[in-house]
Amino acid sequence: MTEAEMYTSYKGVYLLSRVLCRRNLKCYEEFNFLPDDILIVTYPKSGTTWMQEIVPLIVSGGDPASVETLYNWDRVPWLEFHTDCNEDFSKRPSPRMFATHFQHHMMPPGFFEVKPKVIYVMRNPKDVFTSYIHQHSMTPLMVQTGPQREFLHKFLDGKVAFGSWFDHVKGWLNAEDKERIMYISYEEMIMDLKDSVTRIAQFLEKPLGPEVIEKIAERCLFKNMKQNKMSNYSAAPREFLDQRKSEFLRKGVFIVGDWKNQLTVAEAEHFDAVYKDKIKDFNCKDSRLC
Ligand code: A3P
Repeated sequence: MTEAEMYTSYKGVYLLSRVLCRRNLKCYEEFNFLPDDILIVTYPKSGTTWMQEIVPLIVSGGDPASVETLYNWDRVPWLEFHTDCNEDFSKRPSPRMFATHFQHHMMPPGFFEVKPKVIYVMRNPKDVFTSYIHQHSMTPLMVQTGPQREFLHKFLDGKVAFGSWFDHVKGWLNAEDKERIMYISYEEMIMDLKDSVTRIAQFLEKPLGPEVIEKIAERCLFKNMKQNKMSNYSAAPREFLDQRKSEFLRKGVFIVGDWKNQLTVAEAEHFDAVYKDKIKDFNCKDSRLC
């Protein structure tokens, strides 16, 4: 597949053509949100799968069945991957949980009217880049990255699936009605998972005792999630994800700052310079960006 065939664009953002078929766009734009829906929003490789484990466990009061009976992509489906008009989400028990990699300005009108709760997870972009390289190597739907230097330029220019990391993060950090959005970072979750689970449960207005919190945090440790066949993508067909090339749950908790093993000093310096430039006009008050 050539790069031109691989990408389409929606609202100015690069997307994999196979992800958003035009015929599904209408269904996506008319999506009916409910006020108690929970939406997990991430730039790819920022901790989506992790949150797809944490949130169902919190919502179910710590019931292991919530993550043992459904694949992560079924228990918290992506809005953009499941926009088939025939898929009846209205029959799902409340609160419904969804995930999306879409940028803020790409959200459908119903999102702004109904205002469901959002958990926005962000991660150090150099680690996102590193993880994204591995994702490309294991995903036949994506063209190979080619030389790392070139892929780095594409990543920094937003010419990768789901567009620019900078636009993604800035757009969501700039969202109005912030009271319905919880911002959390991958690194915070690595540092203190129990505290993160506690705060997420509070945000979701789901009071849980310390023992339940402890159990959820334990269950969501990298080493334990890696064993969960419903979350480790071992069931994904090889034409979508070939884990012989790289594992989906790759390094996780063992390394924060894996980019140091991936980027050369010159690449890391270039990354820093672009980062500084991209956020220079951003109002950094109360945000983790600067
Ligand atoms: P690495 O490739 O750096 O290991 P996403 O789900 O958004 O695609 O993000 C995938 C990244 O989250 C991968 O990062 C994966 O290992 C990491 N991840 C998933 N579950 C995790 C967990 N329980 N603890 C720490 N990292 C986790």
